Amino acid sequence: MPAPADNLITIVLATGNRDKVKELRPLLEKISPLFKVTTLKELGIEIEIEETEETLEGNALLKARAIFNLLSGQFPFMIALADDTGLEVDSLQGAPGVYSARYAPTPEGIAPTYEDNVSHLLNSLNGITNRTARFRTVIALKGSVPSGDNSFGFEHTAEGVVSGSITTEKRGNQGFGYDPLFLVHSTARTYAEMSMTEKNSLSHRALALKKAIADLKDIVESHSTPLTSTHEHQ
Ligand code: IMP
Repeated sequence: MPAPADNLITIVLATGNRDKVKELRPLLEKISPLFKVTTLKELGIEIEIEETEETLEGNALLKARAIFNLLSGQFPFMIALADDTGLEVDSLQGAPGVYSARYAPTPEGIAPTYEDNVSHLLNSLNGITNRTARFRTVIALKGSVPSGDNSFGFEHTAEGVVSGSITTEKRGNQGFGYDPLFLVHSTARTYAEMSMTEKNSLSHRALALKKAIADLKDIVESHSTPLTSTHEHQ
């Protein structure tokens, strides 16, 4: 049965990263015909949200709130989805963590490249034997969904963690960022030694997304009409 158009829930992805959009859209849309996924780019919006919080959760929520506050007036029901990721190295007291994108020192106003960050991490761990680390992603959702004749507002976060260790030299040439240095304990290979399909099946981001999707389904179903999915939920 087609979904009633006035109950449509627009999910806005607060990311400009095309790979993330490609991964997220089908997973979200197959939960329910009520969900319509769009992006800031598709809405013609260019916005730079400064990540000023000191935790991944704080930054993910900050981004989701900013997008929700900007756009919720345009849709009857809407959910903003944002994520933040960090690499936490035990011997470095959890660094680079929330500062993973800007870890290597660079001149004022210039962002470090992935290569700068990789070299800086190898230098920081020079001579250190305990190299255990984990990748952590937090996905934040802020939304307003149908609830009887009204709407229900919520904020929620979901986390995905993968344990590993930092290699002493780069291994593999797939992926991006710290992938060549992150040895996944469960596979004994770095992310950069995996195909994109394999990495996407077990990564920190994939785990957080799986959790966020399951939680979102529960939140929407507990406050409004059941989501009549035409597909099996995974
Ligand atoms: P973001 O929060 O997804 O933008 O990630 C922040 C930084 O963490 C990125 O600039 C990358 O350096 C690093 N990063 C995030 N996800 C990954 C990943 O899957 N592999 C390697 N590095 C990553």
